[in-house]
Amino acid sequence: MLTVALPKGRIAEETLDIFETIFGESFRFESRKLILQVGGFRFLLVRNQDVPTYVLHQAADIGVVGLDVIEEQGLDIVKLLDMGIGKCKVAVGIKEEDELDWSRPQMKVASKMVNITRNYFSEKAMGVEVVKLYGSIELAPLVGLADAIVDIVETGTTMRENGLKVAETIMESSAHLIANKQSFLAKKGEIMELYTELEKVVRGA
Ligand code: PRP
Repeated sequence: MLTVALPKGRIAEETLDIFETIFGESFRFESRKLILQVGGFRFLLVRNQDVPTYVLHQAADIGVVGLDVIEEQGLDIVKLLDMGIGKCKVAVGIKEEDELDWSRPQMKVASKMVNITRNYFSEKAMGVEVVKLYGSIELAPLVGLADAIVDIVETGTTMRENGLKVAETIMESSAHLIANKQSFLAKKGEIMELYTELEKVVRGA
């Protein structure tokens, strides 16, 4: 039995679609249920940012989560496969009329992704004050809470509709299959069997 942590929303649905393609049976959560047991799998439906936590503590053997979340949390887990779904980028956003001025001594940047933000600006040798927010990041520059944001851009609609633009792309992201280290040792056969099937579907996609 493998326990799989999935992030609520589109990535969970697309991952379950892939499992349906592989195993030819229905993988669907009942309306409010957070656990689904089908075949040799038990799926857990968790918040996006919580997927690596379930995997790190071995409450799940494996999980599917965005590379952005993996990078941000930097946890000691095994990264196995790019699933090719949930594609987006992590970008620096600024007001349409602004330019990123790297000659400034410091910048105030709002983000959910504090570590990615700190690392990026320190690589650029720019002092940064990070304002940690939990959502609606695009609002921050509009009301003077920050000079810039670091956030996920998928279609670009949220930034555009709020008068922001992408100044720089920090990283491309997509959902990856991850595993707990002990699980990967103890259940290597099972995990690699699944990996091989997933890889076939993902490659064909
Ligand atoms: C993300 C991100 C942006 C938006 C970008 O939020 O924080 O606000 O999506 O998407 P777009 O480029 O297609 O407009 P999300 O909806 O994932 O919610 P969250 O803040 O709860 O992570």
